[in-house]
Parts: sequence; C-alpha cells; structure tokens
Amino acid sequence: MQTIGGGPRRGGGSQSFGQGYGQGNGQGYGQRSGQGSRQGYGQGSAQGRSQGSAQGRGQGSGQSYGQGAGQTYGSPQERRVKAARQPLRDHAFYPEGYTDERDTTEVPGGVRLQKVLAQAGVASRRACEEMIGEGRVTVNGQVVRRFGAKVDPATQVIHVDGKRIPTAPDLVYYALNKPIGVVSTMDDPQGRPCLADYVEELAPRLFHVGRLDTETEGLLLLTNDGELANRLTHPSYGVQKKYWAKVPGPIPRDLGRRLKQGIELEDGIARADSFSIVQEHGQQALVEVVLHEGRKHVVRRMLEEAGHRVIDLARIEFGPVKLGRTKPGTVRALTLKEVGELYAAVKL
Ligand code: URA
Repeated sequence: MQTIGGGPRRGGGSQSFGQGYGQGNGQGYGQRSGQGSRQGYGQGSAQGRSQGSAQGRGQGSGQSYGQGAGQTYGSPQERRVKAARQPLRDHAFYPEGYTDERDTTEVPGGVRLQKVLAQAGVASRRACEEMIGEGRVTVNGQVVRRFGAKVDPATQVIHVDGKRIPTAPDLVYYALNKPIGVVSTMDDPQGRPCLADYVEELAPRLFHVGRLDTETEGLLLLTNDGELANRLTHPSYGVQKKYWAKVPGPIPRDLGRRLKQGIELEDGIARADSFSIVQEHGQQALVEVVLHEGRKHVVRRMLEEAGHRVIDLARIEFGPVKLGRTKPGTVRALTLKEVGELYAAVKL
C-alpha cells in the first residue's frame, strides 16, 4: 500500500493508496445454524422482483387444519380467522407435503427451499432446513416453515433473517478495483483500456454501476441485475460513496464544515455527507469525503473549489460494499451478505 508520500503510479498492477482500506468483505449467513455459509458469487444471485408471483396459491387451502390431528373448523370465513390465530408450527409435526393454508408461496413443481438456499451459498441443506424450521426464512414476505416447501428461485423474493438472498441462477455481482487510466465504459472507440478488459469473460451483458473518472481509481460495481444497478445509481436512493483524496496540505480547520454546508459548483450546490482527515504530512494530506450523489468529477470539483486541487482520488466504498484488499485491476465476486445489503440499501 502506498501512502500519501508515494510517487506517481499509472496503470494496471501497481499498488495504490486506495488499496487495502476499509474493512474486509462481510461474512455470510448460516452463522447461527453452523456450516459452510456463503462463498463468493458469480454463481448464485438474486432476483425475484415480482413480489406478487406467488403461484400455486395454498395447495392445501381448505384442507382440514392440522391434518395430523384430524381437526376441521367450520365455515371458510371461520377457518380463515382461526388460521390467522394459529401459532407458527413445528414442521416436524406435519407430514411432508402439508401446506399451511395461510401460506401462498408454494410453487408446484418448484425447487425445495432448502436446496435453493444452499445453492445460493447460505449454508448446507441441513442447516438451511433448520433455518426454515426456526422461522428465519421468508418467501415473498411470508414466513415459510413447512418442510419441503417448493419455490421458484427465479421469481420469488427470499429473505433469511431479514436479508434478501440472491437466488436467480443467472445473476452475478462483482467489484472491480478500476485502475487509473481505465475508462469506465465497456468499450472505447479510441482503444484506451476499458472495463471489458477486466470483466468481459465473467458474464455477458454486465452493467457498470455508475462511473469513475479515467484518472480515478477504486471500487466499481458490475452486475447483470439491471434493476439493482438502476436503483444504485438513482439519486432518490441516496446510496453513499466514500472517497479518499490526496490533496495539498495543510488542511484548514473549516474545510469539513464548508464541504458539508455545500460548495457552489457551476451545475448546483454539492454537499458532503461527511469529511475527515485520514493523514496529514505538511505538504500533503489524505482526506475522506462521503457523498450520496454522482455528478461528474464532483469530488475533484468540490475540493478544487475549496482550494485543494486533487492529486489522486480513489473510491473505497460504495454503499455497504468496501474495496477492502482488492488490488487495482482485479475483480472479486461480491459476497452473499454484500449483495443482500445492496438490495436493502435500495429497498429491493
Ligand atoms: N468524483 C470525482 O471527482 N471523480 C470520480 O470518479 C467520482 C467522483
């Protein structure tokens, strides 16, 4: 890791001041029920936008309640009221295939929920079964405890402990540490290094989530999940981005206040959400700026307007995702936890 006194860097594999900062990537699920939990992605992923896709509505609807116990309740109306009052059940008590009449998530011919969770990297099938039994799993917003529940991983929205689990098999999520000198496009008519040089082989039709200036390095997210990508860049969700900027020192005491109050730029005021000094060595300083907007060159323009021309700039966080130890020019698959947190950040 180079610090603020370091010499100039350019291109691919060199070390950089934005590298190795922030904390490591999060861990995954399955902690409470032991076992394997998440791994990287690229394989499993999210989706299930269509919240209303609860096909196979209540296979067991209208069946007697608690088949094992042989009870039935009066009119359909009465059954609904009573059903709503029933406590959540212990799945071991019910025969396989039993469907809770309150549960509209069953998809005939679907994939077993524990298999979907295990394939997404949550934990082993056994541990996932336990999570289901413990009532930690929801499908389209409903707690599903029944043993052998079948779901559609491509269209249903599945959460474990309140965190969205990416389950659609074809969606992928990556973090690239974009090196300086690489343009933030998938191809470049002028033949400059571009994102495709780093991610082309990972998946077809990857979107980059926003851009970084050619001269800025750092964290760039890429995914083929169009809805997530759109929301992450949409100003209404206000997803925060954290930057480290190397600037001439010394840093005046009021710089943070000025940036947070707002700097008048030619296309309107830009405000930092937070500001701090990471390092200061007389002639140079490394400062941290957090923003939730994405106008072109915004960090450089704000600091320049405030009297601090940016020497080097790196993005080290995008919402919940940290650059961590991802080296410039390398790509890593986001963890299950990171993808779940990205979903949560944009209310998916
Ligand atoms: N602000 C900048 O000035 N450049 C970037 O690449 C991103 C934010």
